[in-house]
Amino acid sequence: MTYLMETKNEAKRLLMKSDADSTRAQLQLTGLKPRMSAVDAGGGAGFVSRIMAQIVGEEGCVSLVDQSSDRIQAAKDYIKPYSNVFYVQSDLRNIPIATGSVDYVFCRFVFEYLDEPTEVFDELYRIVKPGGRLIIGDLDNNILTHYPLGVELEQKLMQIVSEFERLKLWDPYMGRRLYSFYRQSSMREITVHMLPHHLIYGEIKDADYQNMKMKLDRVCELWKSGSIQLNFDPEIFQREFLEFFKSPDRFSYTPLILVEGVKALKV
Ligand SMILES: C[S@@+](CC[C@H](N)C(=O)[O-])C[C@H]1O[C@@H](n2cnc3c(N)ncnc32)[C@H](O)[C@@H]1O
Repeated sequence: MTYLMETKNEAKRLLMKSDADSTRAQLQLTGLKPRMSAVDAGGGAGFVSRIMAQIVGEEGCVSLVDQSSDRIQAAKDYIKPYSNVFYVQSDLRNIPIATGSVDYVFCRFVFEYLDEPTEVFDELYRIVKPGGRLIIGDLDNNILTHYPLGVELEQKLMQIVSEFERLKLWDPYMGRRLYSFYRQSSMREITVHMLPHHLIYGEIKDADYQNMKMKLDRVCELWKSGSIQLNFDPEIFQREFLEFFKSPDRFSYTPLILVEGVKALKV
């Protein structure tokens, strides 16, 4: 499936932007424990899998599933010393893992890119053991909440986002949709957490700045190749937006919605 952020630097971007403390806290909050069998679905360059491997320990195991051979290779390099991680290059719509075999499935920052999220939800649900847990996390209002942005930049940002939505390449509101996937399944004990993913004020961290820059680089690249249509030059927008984003006066935030559920013992 087409992945919006498919560039040669994507593994690097994923490792650079991720935060170990909040990732560990999310895994512990949603029930990952020693000795479990776990899946990191759309695991990218392995940042989450590495922490999962530490939590489940040698008596547990983690399978990192991702469609990209580049990211799988980057993950192997990044995770190297952990022998309890298995690498599965696969589309999430058809995962080569047995039905009802996994204690804990975690899938973060992936659904926003899927044009058929219910298909992937059903597939993740399939591999969870009865009594096991499925956790899906995504952002809401992704990239959209900044103050004081100004009307012109805000309208241009909305135009970029709408273009990706129109092409079904990306959904900035995926966070709010996740709960409904769980409600439409036979999941039990559904719990929703809302956590501050971005909370940016004052001086910007280099990782946050570079992450935003790389996203806007991708917009420019897609515009130049004619893959997206905009009625303004995104290179000029990028300069102006990054100037704003760098300012310590700017306030930006994005909530992460993390939904967990338990697969019923009998469906
Ligand atoms: C933004 S990264 C998320 C990385 C990681 N889950 C995290 O929380 O940092 C999204 C990953 O999902 C993978 N992906 C997107 N669609 C996929 C699909 N249909 N099947 C398998 N992997 C997919 C991409 O290759 C990419 O590595």
